[in-house]
Amino acid sequence: MSERVIVNDVGPRDGLQNQAKHLSPGERVRLVQALLAAGMDHVEVGAFVSPKAVPAMAGAAEIVAALQGTPGTLSVLIPNMKGYELALAAGARVMAMVVYATDGMARANVGRDRAEVDAATAEILERARQDGVSVLTTISVSFECPFEGPVDPQVVQDAADRMLDWGTARFIVADTIGAAAPDAVASMMSDMVGRHGAGRLGCHFHDTRALGLANVYAAANAGVRYFDASIAGLGGCPFAPGATGNVATEDVVMLLERLGLDTSIDMPALLRAADLAKDLTGTAPGGRAGTWLAQAFREKAS
Ligand code: COA
Ligand code: ZN
Repeated sequence: MSERVIVNDVGPRDGLQNQAKHLSPGERVRLVQALLAAGMDHVEVGAFVSPKAVPAMAGAAEIVAALQGTPGTLSVLIPNMKGYELALAAGARVMAMVVYATDGMARANVGRDRAEVDAATAEILERARQDGVSVLTTISVSFECPFEGPVDPQVVQDAADRMLDWGTARFIVADTIGAAAPDAVASMMSDMVGRHGAGRLGCHFHDTRALGLANVYAAANAGVRYFDASIAGLGGCPFAPGATGNVATEDVVMLLERLGLDTSIDMPALLRAADLAKDLTGTAPGGRAGTWLAQAFREKAS
């Protein structure tokens, strides 16, 4: 039996939030269902954020309602207590909160500084404990910030200590602008896994400098067993200048399986989900290994 690794598809949220073309809630539900049909049991399905700030994410309540009762860990992004309340009322039971390694990124994203976001997160974690809701915490710009430059790894380690202590279900280290290099990832994640174990940790990489997969490899070698990825490489953050797509789910699955880990994901069905992402958006780049994967699994990629 090979060791299980979780791949969480954030395409319907991180992937779609920045697209010029806004998909309807119904189209986003179809994309989530295609991912579930491929055996993906962790998907970030939307965001309860201000529709003025991120118009592409409008209609999250409709998405959560349509997916009610679906097995799997379906999470929604929330930026504040208002988002928590709206998500809870819609029926969401797994929420994803973002904290920040720099004040510059916190202000650009949610108009608050790091300390204010941390305080809001503490309140949300306390409230979630009472409601039986699980909260994932992602730390944005863990390696480099578009406004403040290189980040001191100690800032991220301290945030991990704090959030895990406050009861987050998982602490996810995000390279929001795709600026990390594998040596820095190896060093940060081996320290973190050494101190906390891998069970409640995860990583989130963007492929801006073509190092996304190398960074997944470095983190997997350091013992990380949970990775965010985005179907067909969709993505980019609207508030982080220069951020391009997440590392593509189909490439990450290929790499993790090659390392002997078990993703429980069916590649032909995953390629159908990637085709749907491309059809719906017209702009999804597709995985770097897309051509080979399509041939190897005898499924047409287009
Ligand atoms: N969902 C929906 N609406 C929300 C909201 C939420 N979670 N939080 C606040 N709002 C509404 C308020 O009700 C208010 O509405 P009104 O203008 O009709 O009265 C308006 O947004 C402004 O509220 P305020 O508390 O002053 O927020 P803000 O203008 O400082 O915006 C955020 C802060 C967090 C709401 C906004 O920046 C946001 O949604 N950011 C999301 C960023 C994101 O998703 N980034 C990608 C993730 S990496
Ligand atoms: Zn991201």
